[in-house]
Amino acid sequence: MSVSCTIDNRRSVKADAVVIFIYQDENLFKSQRKDLIDSIPHLQPLLDSGDFSGKKFSTSVGYVGSAATSPRFILVGLGNQSTVTPEIIRRASASATKSAAALRCKHVAFEVPAIPGIDTNTTSQATVEGAMLSQYGFVKYKSNSDEIKTFVTEFTFYSERARANAVNKGATNAQAIVSGVIVARDLANAPNNEIYPQTLAKRASDLGKKNGFSTTVFDKKKIEELGMGGLLGVNKGSVNPPVFIVMQYNGGSKSKKPIVLVGKGITFDTGGISIKPAANMSDMKGDMHGAASVIGTMVAAAKLGLKKNLIGLIPSTENMPSGSAMVPGDILKFMNGKTAEIDNTDAEGRLVLADALCYAARYNPEVVIDLATLTGACVVALGNVTTGMFGTDETTKGRLKAAADRTNEYVCEMPIYEEYEEMISSDYADIKNSGGRNAGSITAALFLKHFVSYPWVHLDIAGTAMLSKPGFYQPKGNTGVGVRLLIDSLRHW
Ligand code: BES
Ligand code: MN
Ligand code: ZN
Repeated sequence: MSVSCTIDNRRSVKADAVVIFIYQDENLFKSQRKDLIDSIPHLQPLLDSGDFSGKKFSTSVGYVGSAATSPRFILVGLGNQSTVTPEIIRRASASATKSAAALRCKHVAFEVPAIPGIDTNTTSQATVEGAMLSQYGFVKYKSNSDEIKTFVTEFTFYSERARANAVNKGATNAQAIVSGVIVARDLANAPNNEIYPQTLAKRASDLGKKNGFSTTVFDKKKIEELGMGGLLGVNKGSVNPPVFIVMQYNGGSKSKKPIVLVGKGITFDTGGISIKPAANMSDMKGDMHGAASVIGTMVAAAKLGLKKNLIGLIPSTENMPSGSAMVPGDILKFMNGKTAEIDNTDAEGRLVLADALCYAARYNPEVVIDLATLTGACVVALGNVTTGMFGTDETTKGRLKAAADRTNEYVCEMPIYEEYEEMISSDYADIKNSGGRNAGSITAALFLKHFVSYPWVHLDIAGTAMLSKPGFYQPKGNTGVGVRLLIDSLRHW
């Protein structure tokens, strides 16, 4: 995908299609209609037909012959002006881009709208995000090009001179963020025979070299030396050894405590000996979405040059059943000396995260935020729309909530009252790894809390990581959730 920003106008901009955003309010519609017809008379029949009203996300295509340099105009509705938000811009932009893609347009130009109450920078970022994020597909394994739907590959965002700088800034930020989201989507969508612990580590290292963060990969021997019994326990059934990935981005002053991001990196979750049913098990190739989001966030942060010190930690292994696999009743010992009885080998995420959370303490962090496709219970509670948020740090929870409202990567706080603790008590070890069906995402979060010694927030993205049908600017499959949320919170920190 290529993006350019220019000072141009609707008559002279050159593309396969030009997108114009239109309000639904009667008077605003009338005046936009008049402007359009004055500049491009060929749009009159379309506007007179009444087929297009400016309704939110609706689109109409007009063919304008010699009236403009570009052959097609796509009108897209924003609804009423007073109700427009960045999310509505993202969705409208995505909707228009999808119409253009359906017409096999390769190059689309957007007239960045001037929206009262929203600064141009923000409007531009939202326009670019919606357009680019809508043109994603995991198509690398499709060999028949007829089967691959065509994507828009070239984007131009134009405005008049006065807003050009702000348009450019918003577009530059959007490109950095989108590339982080795409990194996350690509990693999470990749099957386990492409992305397993070693290849995940290789991708993280390559992305670090390219974008400007350092990566260190601990192998099994080093993981043993560190006493990461949770990561080793989950790995016991696998042929591929585990890795522990440490990424470091130093954008802030040396004296500033780092923010540590931890991502669950189970490259495939069969459930282990407590094996999952066959139906939809392939979805579990995305059980490293937390890791993918952390890597995507490191990429975007480095591209943006954020003035923050960030550490990314990823405990990674497959969760496989075999003659050497851990079994229910086994007791594991984590890096901080605590022990857990395995009640269910399918509750593996918390076991690998436990060691990563212990390791995070070495950085004396300002806060640790972990992201994990941790529990089916979270999907039951919040569906595919909202991420479950747990934790001990009110300030960071507040920051994430504010970022969620700006990015529409929603979060909802769930409780971790001490009263739930008895559900994970064990007769033989300090705790056990499953608290049963009730309050399943809460007992998982409480399990993690045993390994935390600093301000902490846990995001359960089991529901928001994957969609069974596409959204406005989200593809079917893995979404890249978390990258926009974290980057937005870091930019407003
Ligand atoms: N990776 C799964 C959780 C999951 C389920 C993510 C559905 C995305 C979609 C996790 O490792 C798991 O299996 N959790 C168990 C825990 C239970 C055994 C206590 C679950 O939620 O059923
Ligand atoms: Mn599992
Ligand atoms: Zn899992």
